[in-house]
Amino acid sequence: MSKQDSHFINVFGLILGILIAVAIVIFGVARAVGHSTQSKHVQEEDLYVKAVEARVAPPVRIAVAGADNSALAIEAPAASAAPAMPVPADGPALYDAACHTCHGPGLAGAPKIGDAAAWGPRIAQGTATLYKHAIEGFTGQHGVMPPKGGRSDLPDDLIKQGVDYMVGKSR
Ligand code: HEC
Repeated sequence: MSKQDSHFINVFGLILGILIAVAIVIFGVARAVGHSTQSKHVQEEDLYVKAVEARVAPPVRIAVAGADNSALAIEAPAASAAPAMPVPADGPALYDAACHTCHGPGLAGAPKIGDAAAWGPRIAQGTATLYKHAIEGFTGQHGVMPPKGGRSDLPDDLIKQGVDYMVGKSR
């Protein structure tokens, strides 16, 4: 065998060995990764089976006349799906819950609570206008006051109390 040939065989063998070692490592890693999803006790797990069944279920279910189609009934969304936000008890509580975000720091052009200069001309419009603007929303020269500060679920009277509170603090 020539010197060149034996060199080739050595290098070839080395590379082959490295590739086999890599393959064994990859096999080990795959086993370790798959252990949590592919092992027998996982595949027999109830939740897992249900999830697989849901994934492979046909996208359409067909009601058959005369058959029991109760499984097709559309489930009413649970009443608690969107838990209602708590309703503040009074003006100050409303202010903290719904108005402070903007009127505390004076965000987005909102007149700051306690800033008599910013509130003076607004108060001069009369409370009826302030109520109206707070309840129905208002776009002025400074920005946008969203209807009820974004809490359209709240009663008008409560919003009025919130306005009274802010106005009282800003005279
Ligand atoms: C998203 C921010 C934001 C929230 C939340 C918000 N406001 Fe405002 N509010 C504004 C802005 C901005 C203005 C000023 C608009 C302008 O004059 O350009 C304003 C103006 C007002 C005015 C004066 C209206 C006028 O005629 O000058 C009142 C009263 C008021 N808000 C009440 C409230 C009350 C009560 C709440 C809570 C229920 C509230 N705001 C929550 C942004 C907000």
